[in-house]
Amino acid sequence: MSEALITTDKAGVDVSGCFDMATGILDRRIFTDEEIYQEELKKIFGRAWNFVCHESQIPNPGDFMMNYIGEDEVIVVRDRQQSINVLLNSCPHRGNTVCRAELGNTRSFFCSYHGWNYDLDGRLIGMPGEDDFYRNNIDKKDWGLTPAAKVENYRGFCFATLDPEAPPLEEYLGWVGKVGIDFLLAEGDIEFLDGIHKNRLQCNWKLAVDNLYDWYHVKVSHGSAIKIGILDGALAAPDNQMVILGEYGHGIGGPGISEEEQARYDARMASGEGEPQWYDRYAEKRTSPETREMLGPVGRRSFGHPNIFPNLWVAQTNQVCLRIPRGPYETELWWFNFRRKGMSEDEQKFSAFMQNHMFGPAGVLEQDDGENWSHSTRGAKGTFSKTLPLNFSMGNKADQVSQDPSGQSCIETVINEHAQRWTYQSWQDWMAAENWPELIANHSQPPTGEV
Ligand code: FES
Ligand SMILES: [Fe+2]
Repeated sequence: MSEALITTDKAGVDVSGCFDMATGILDRRIFTDEEIYQEELKKIFGRAWNFVCHESQIPNPGDFMMNYIGEDEVIVVRDRQQSINVLLNSCPHRGNTVCRAELGNTRSFFCSYHGWNYDLDGRLIGMPGEDDFYRNNIDKKDWGLTPAAKVENYRGFCFATLDPEAPPLEEYLGWVGKVGIDFLLAEGDIEFLDGIHKNRLQCNWKLAVDNLYDWYHVKVSHGSAIKIGILDGALAAPDNQMVILGEYGHGIGGPGISEEEQARYDARMASGEGEPQWYDRYAEKRTSPETREMLGPVGRRSFGHPNIFPNLWVAQTNQVCLRIPRGPYETELWWFNFRRKGMSEDEQKFSAFMQNHMFGPAGVLEQDDGENWSHSTRGAKGTFSKTLPLNFSMGNKADQVSQDPSGQSCIETVINEHAQRWTYQSWQDWMAAENWPELIANHSQPPTGEV
């Protein structure tokens, strides 16, 4: 069953007027409209490379975990040949899920309804009554679990796409998506921890994505966390910002330092003299020659938040977070936690404290954020309020993209909304294209010059 899962349908909803890049004005109905949401599931989640697991989560044959591509539940499972398969969790007989556990180890997937049984690669290998009831008149090879069209891995991070026309993963990620993942490896190899923190918020998934670039809200929304000292006020939202924009909607936004600051930092570390600066705690993670080489001359000066479009946030707390859509008004956040190999016990304790107390169901920051995103979504539902535009104009036409000779480009500026505008512009590109060839041909290229 490897035919394309995607059928192209010209009669889609037209969202081309929803966002105006020139002014930063957004039609807020994109957060609540049911028809737009259904199109997103097909045109964005159905086509994109979706993060499904880190390979360390399923190290042995038979290890599996569940995930979602849009609203479709998938089983991510390592087979006996060590390949990772991504299979739709829906039995072709009546559609029942064939796996109910969130993770585990198994020899096969046995459907609890009538007993069809599937191998780790999705092949149908057994069914009650094949001789007596089906009279041997069914070809089992046609009735396996449907696999994702492609599964690929970048440095241990496994992604899957349902669209056979999708470009290779590394081409999709581009340098921006790859650097976003490389940030996690800047301090050495990592391994994911058991269990995923999961919680639901009453908000549209795009608001949760938009917010990861939002360094404007920090001192207001998280003022109480700064006040009690759980969040460092100086590091929380420095004015020095760097935005990096990549193809297909990938981006990195947040604190960054100039080449001059980098040079001053290096000189200070070499001489042991000079005053500490706000960025020292970020910069000290980027000192080894290997890390600098891996991240490149611009990437190594960025300490912002990467988003792998559409919905994988690479956080700075030894975590990544998927923003999984659950209807236009609901989003499930899945926090994957990991540790760096070789961490001391104290470092591990601190890392676990941050993982439990900043984000996720018990996270002080996420409670602040979740309230605001939920109310913003509510504000896009009202009969009258939903007709009113939203303003994403901060820093528009006020900055320049600088192009490094290495090919890495960035915007060095203050608090801004460049990455949010880029996200909605790219979202519009995805929604306008009928298929991957159209998206490849017509998607917006990262800006140059004035932005
Ligand atoms: S629904 Fe799975 S065997 Fe019938
Ligand atoms: Fe926040």
